[in-house]
Amino acid sequence: MNSPTPLSFLFFFIFFALFITPSISKSPSLSLSTTSLSKSNNSVTVNWSGVDSPSQLDWLGIYSPPDSSLRNYIGYLYLNASPTWQSGLGSITIPLINLRSKYKIRIFRWTESEIIPTRQDHDHNPLPQPKHLLAETEEFGFGSGHGPDQIHLALTGGSGEMRVMFVSGGGEESVVRYGLGSGQMDREVGTRVGRYEREDMCDAPANNSVGWRDPGFIHDKVIWSLERSTSIRWEVMQRVGATLSASFHQTKIQVKR
Ligand SMILES: *[C@@H]1O[C@H](CO)[C@@H](O)[C@H](O)[C@H]1NC(C)=O
Ligand SMILES: *[C@@H]1O[C@H](CO)[C@@H](O)[C@H](O)[C@H]1NC(C)=O
Ligand SMILES: *[C@@H]1O[C@H](CO)[C@@H](O)[C@H](O)[C@H]1NC(C)=O
Repeated sequence: MNSPTPLSFLFFFIFFALFITPSISKSPSLSLSTTSLSKSNNSVTVNWSGVDSPSQLDWLGIYSPPDSSLRNYIGYLYLNASPTWQSGLGSITIPLINLRSKYKIRIFRWTESEIIPTRQDHDHNPLPQPKHLLAETEEFGFGSGHGPDQIHLALTGGSGEMRVMFVSGGGEESVVRYGLGSGQMDREVGTRVGRYEREDMCDAPANNSVGWRDPGFIHDKVIWSLERSTSIRWEVMQRVGATLSASFHQTKIQVKR
């Protein structure tokens, strides 16, 4: 056996440097704190690592639905929001609302030379360009059957009345149960359910596939016969099969007029 000559050793070294090293350098990786959010406005934490020579314009795009084209991100944050970004790793926590569609998060390399001055957001900051995708997460989103969102109460203008409104994913039969003073929660009323569709939107982008979002079903019920200066306890319940599911909201308020 011949021992390798200096020349062939050098050749091997160059080969290794040119072709092997890039493939073993770590590509960035992304991980999520959860893939199943339970309630609108819950947060997800995105961790990244292995971003080589980080640029202070590297950014993270939020996509929903996940197969949206790269330029149709619905939100973005710079990776430099994380104090460790210069080491090529970091962590950002993002509250997300339930859009009734899955999400995906992608990270991109962006540099000052690639700023397009004419592409600006509403605050006149340049819009990030999605030319160099570094990594993307798996799809994630809100689990189904987690109950209604955006439950709220409003005055109607009519004396002794209050309006309860909330949104559900599928228009499930729901009731508002309430009681006055310190008595039982002995009144139970169903809700009126409404919805609007993409065709009801009058212009782009709301009426096209990029801007349209499934609004869910809007539940609405006016409860009345509330006496002056009393307290009311109320809750919203959703029917699952034959039974009413657990209470999704329960509160006690003072009515003073
Ligand atoms: C993300 O990073 C933080 C520290 O920055 C760590 O505490 C957490 O466990 C990481 N989460 C995941 C999902 O890797
Ligand atoms: C969403 O959560 C944040 C805290 O993570 C809170 O400050 C904010 O008020 C919440 N928004 C709504 C609409 O609940
Ligand atoms: C959206 O609305 C505009 C204005 O009414 C109309 O010209 C356009 O054709 C609509 N687009 C779709 C996809 O329906």
